[in-house]
Amino acid sequence: MHPLLTIILAAGKGTRMKSALPKVLHPLAGLPMVCHVLQSARSAGAGLSAVVVGPGMERVAREARQEAEDIQVFVQEDQLGTAHAVLAARPLLERHAGDVMVLYGDTPLIGGKTLKALRAALDDGAAVAVLGFRPADPKGYGRLLTNGVGDLVAIREENDASEGERAVGFCNSGVMAFRTPHLLSILDRISDKNAKGEFYLTDVIEIARADGLRAVAIECPEHEVIGVNSRDQLAAAEVAWQKARRREVMLGGATLIAPETVWFSYDTRIGQDVVIEPNVFFGPGVTVEDRVTIKANTHIQGFDQKSRAGVVIRSGAEIGPFARLRPGADVGADVHIGNFVEVKNVKMGTGAKANHLAYLGDGEVGADANIGAGTIFCNYDGYFKHQTVVGSGAFIGSNSALVAPVKIGDGAYVGSGSVVTKDVPGDALALTRASHVERPGWAAKFRAMMERRKSGRAAE
Ligand code: UD1
Ligand code: MG
Repeated sequence: MHPLLTIILAAGKGTRMKSALPKVLHPLAGLPMVCHVLQSARSAGAGLSAVVVGPGMERVAREARQEAEDIQVFVQEDQLGTAHAVLAARPLLERHAGDVMVLYGDTPLIGGKTLKALRAALDDGAAVAVLGFRPADPKGYGRLLTNGVGDLVAIREENDASEGERAVGFCNSGVMAFRTPHLLSILDRISDKNAKGEFYLTDVIEIARADGLRAVAIECPEHEVIGVNSRDQLAAAEVAWQKARRREVMLGGATLIAPETVWFSYDTRIGQDVVIEPNVFFGPGVTVEDRVTIKANTHIQGFDQKSRAGVVIRSGAEIGPFARLRPGADVGADVHIGNFVEVKNVKMGTGAKANHLAYLGDGEVGADANIGAGTIFCNYDGYFKHQTVVGSGAFIGSNSALVAPVKIGDGAYVGSGSVVTKDVPGDALALTRASHVERPGWAAKFRAMMERRKSGRAAE
């Protein structure tokens, strides 16, 4: 067996992003780019991963550790090139006996399957395998130079390439795999005598061949190796990711009426026979069970850093149009959440309904309860959040304010327009509005009096 170590290069500052955030932490589908790469490494069988960061990039290390607890972090003090970056992980390379794969933190769309194919080239006898692609525009990439029998003989960086070499359309993605006990010795022999004055990882090929080792190139589709250097490239990578994910979701048995308008997160789980109407957004940490319908223009925020809680929409529920589900919304089976209803940190029992214009924040709604239009859970007193509990089968009349902490018992009624500040027992009626007063004929008399007054003034 050859245990796999992956080294993810992420020391570049990404100045073209024009951001206070290190480039590899910019999110793609709600997850930092570097974490996508870590996930792919794991699905390719990486036992151990290391990330190489620049000085002051502790946040990258933190995020990477959240993705993979045992990740090793190395700091590359000066960015002297890709080979120099790999050597920042020297202590690990000295201890590791097995395969090594180098990935870039800013190439987030690389798939685990492709990495496995690259590794298979090592099983076929190569000491070095490079992932190549044929971009529409090869400008800026290193060119893969192969010989008649399909071996890779060199990678030439564009700045160092002859005219003939530049005409080659087969390019280096940057992803490389190694099976040689001599990798460190090869890396140590790389020099910086080139146009950029950097230690190029790509020089590994010629040195390995001089040592009698075999190098090969494996081709992959361009969209898997899109590199992100700027925000427009980030948006292009997001589009590519979303396109692939929508397809997967549809193949998994969900209907997307206008797929190009639905935005998933890296971890969105969608069940079977789910229908998603146009313009729906999923933040991280959302699970949608079978037979759920999500109507147009619904925003499902999901997980956030503060609450660490996601959103669950259980089977048969109907959400939207224009609904908003925030962290901790646990929407029970067959629940209806209608237009302009916001739900945050509330567990809703089976069959409960909140069909129009409501804020349900912090609490519980029992099974089959009905929350009328305009109901507000007044959960915040300016200092603390409090719970509202609505019992099963309770009916909350329209335009009611439930001032938390408060409990409405099972089967109780709250009359429309009430401001409820005390607990209501089960099956009781609570009414806190002013009582209804009626004066027969008052309006007609009032109008007659005012008309007289007006005509009297006109005569003056
Ligand atoms: C590199 C390859 C090129 C390939 C291209 C694909 C080399 C010499 N060239 O060029 O053949 O076609 O990628 O996108 O390898 N990094 C560090 N420390 C450093 C330098 C780089 O961590 O000192 C990291 C960067 O953060 C980045 C990656 O390595 O994630 C690639 O570096 P970059 O400078 O973008 O290399 P390219 O010029 O694009
Ligand atoms: Mg680059």
